[in-house]
Amino acid sequence: MKIIIDTDPGQDDAVAILLALASPELELLGLTVVAGNVPLSLTQQNARKICELAGRPDIPIFSGCDKPLQRELVTAEHVHGRTGLDGIALPDPSMPLQSAHAVDFIIDSLRREAPGSVTLVPIGPLTNIAQAFRRAPDIVARVGRIVLMGGACFEGGNITPAAEFNIHVDPDAARIVFASGAPLTVIPLDVTHKALTSREWIETMRGLGPVGQAVASWTDFFERYDRAKYGSEGAPLHDPCAVAWLLEPALFSGRFINVEIETESRLTLGMTVADWWGVTGRAPNATFIREVERDRLFDLLARRIARLDGHGSG
Ligand code: BDR
Ligand code: CA
Repeated sequence: MKIIIDTDPGQDDAVAILLALASPELELLGLTVVAGNVPLSLTQQNARKICELAGRPDIPIFSGCDKPLQRELVTAEHVHGRTGLDGIALPDPSMPLQSAHAVDFIIDSLRREAPGSVTLVPIGPLTNIAQAFRRAPDIVARVGRIVLMGGACFEGGNITPAAEFNIHVDPDAARIVFASGAPLTVIPLDVTHKALTSREWIETMRGLGPVGQAVASWTDFFERYDRAKYGSEGAPLHDPCAVAWLLEPALFSGRFINVEIETESRLTLGMTVADWWGVTGRAPNATFIREVERDRLFDLLARRIARLDGHGSG
């Protein structure tokens, strides 16, 4: 399956990218980078560090939008640290950024590849995707599926009481994507807050080799925030769930429902208004995931990350 990951790394973005790189079922056409967890100057650098860590300097990386469509950028250094990838010091990257803009790469890829053959995997704010859809409406019908991490329903928000970070940062972009008509799978906080690392899993990662050690250090760093906030043991691996859904959708369950994005309210800006109970009569537009088989997810992650450190072919 051909995929483009649109990302704002981020420790959990990093694990998602590693999972994709470790999975032969997925052909990663490129990474498109967006501003989100930290400004674009850092997210594009982090994306390159991650690919070099995985021994994949051949992956094309495209820098994209440096701020939301029509708002100021909100960042999350309080979660991800000053660099966005705090937890372990990785060498400055030497692989180049591609000269094309991320939005152009998304448009060109969808026009070049067979209709329906490319899956978009956005795991940051949706600015690049919405910009591509606005500039080239013809590509929307060519998208195979969009599998995104974002939003929340029963769980409530993480950046405001009502909104999840990726959607809140660029709600106008999210509205465009959710209204586009492209097939959509949504991995919200309702799922990712069930995808919590365990101490045992982190220590298994640490024993693997350099890639596993980075994953362990990132999740250790990430965990301190969630432990303080939610009182839970373990860090939610939000973004890897989107890639895992591509690999093993049977680990997840949800409903095909109507989801719309709030773009006006001061209190609930960026809320994903998810009609789980079907009370509005509005047409379904998204498969909204609510459950994940946590142990099998972490087993999949462990087996795949181990490959990058040269262990087995699981
Ligand atoms: C999402 O926001 C970011 O902080 C994470 O990388 C993830 O994509 C979770 O709300
Ligand atoms: Ca992210």
